[in-house]
Amino acid sequence: MKIHRIAVIPGDGVGPEVVEEGLRVMQAAQSLSAGSPLELERFSWGSEFYLTTGTMMPSDALQTLASFDAIYLGAVGDPRVPDDVTLHGLLLPIRKAFDQYACVRPIYLYPGVCSPLADKASGSIDMVVIRENTEGEYADVGGRVYPGSPHEVAIQAGIFTRHGTERVIRYAFDLARQPGRRKKVTSITKSNAQRFGMVFWDEVFRVVAKDYPEVATESQLVDVACMNFVRKPESFDVVVASNLFGDILTDLGAIIVGGMGLAPSGNINPSKAHPSMFEPTHGSAPDIAGKGMANPLAAILTGAMMLEFLGEAKSTSLIRKAVASILAQGQARTPDLGGSARTGEVGDELLAMM
Ligand code: NAD
Ligand code: IPM
Ligand code: MN
Repeated sequence: MKIHRIAVIPGDGVGPEVVEEGLRVMQAAQSLSAGSPLELERFSWGSEFYLTTGTMMPSDALQTLASFDAIYLGAVGDPRVPDDVTLHGLLLPIRKAFDQYACVRPIYLYPGVCSPLADKASGSIDMVVIRENTEGEYADVGGRVYPGSPHEVAIQAGIFTRHGTERVIRYAFDLARQPGRRKKVTSITKSNAQRFGMVFWDEVFRVVAKDYPEVATESQLVDVACMNFVRKPESFDVVVASNLFGDILTDLGAIIVGGMGLAPSGNINPSKAHPSMFEPTHGSAPDIAGKGMANPLAAILTGAMMLEFLGEAKSTSLIRKAVASILAQGQARTPDLGGSARTGEVGDELLAMM
């Protein structure tokens, strides 16, 4: 019998709280729909591990993770450790080492969820942002010279390769023509100011578009795109953007459909040569960590994305339907959605619904 081997990294802050609910719901969905069992292995890597050992994960962590079918992660980040240490010590190396080049972030306004934008009908905001996830502004190329002196120089290079740019744009086009999507891709750059990397990105976008004549295309500057995410979010279907622009746009996207507590995300290696990693879009939320206030729905919907990627269509749809139902009926809402339910109560309610 097939077994899905999942590496679980709960991480920091609210990470462990939301991951436990995600795992409960996934396990239940798999057994209710007679899917393949999930074999979970938990890794207690992250900021506590760093404070004890001096590294965020062991030196052979990537080799350990390589043998799994997927990675399920909570969040990384702790006020006691600088963010560049925590993120460059765990999250970003995994995305890069396993060539998870397409970060897929759906943005959907569920019935029963109130958008901060006025008069938005449920379902009217329905887009997927594909964020380049291995290079661009996150290439980690640069350095500092003469530190601390008046002559100090800091260089942070953005790297845009033809291989990296073309494959993520192609991923967006392939998605746009999947059933249920509206056959439109919007590419976001800033080529009026960034005239090397971003002008190059625009050129590659136009070349790839020729292979998809049935898909409508649009290019927007990132500042205008921010305006349009607020002004007419209905106009977006699939959005493709560089690493940094995709990061920023997906927080904005999350907020217009109910907040970080609802925003799932998958770091995908479409070739399946290495494991993909699934994590909610939000961080470790130190302001609410340990209080049982975190909304686990982002992590639960992230779990559904992982099961879909693993070919478990029935349990994916079971989870998504149950989430839609509890949102529509206003049951078990955490404070971010205006309720007073605790993290675990949302999981309980979902299990009952399923
Ligand atoms: P954050 O996403 O942790 O929090 C932003 C806001 O959203 C906070 O008000 C928080 O309470 C709220 N929020 C987040 N998740 C929520 C949930 N599940 N339910 C309800 N409310 C939720 O972003 P931040 O405060 O900028 O970052 C905190 C730490 O997390 C930093 O160390 C940052 O570097 C890190 N971070 C990590 C990731 C990741 O692991 N993928 C992502 C973003 C930020
Ligand atoms: C995200 C996060 C990370 C990113 C940070 C924590 C490095 O904001 O997953 O969106 O920018 O990729
Ligand atoms: Mn982010």
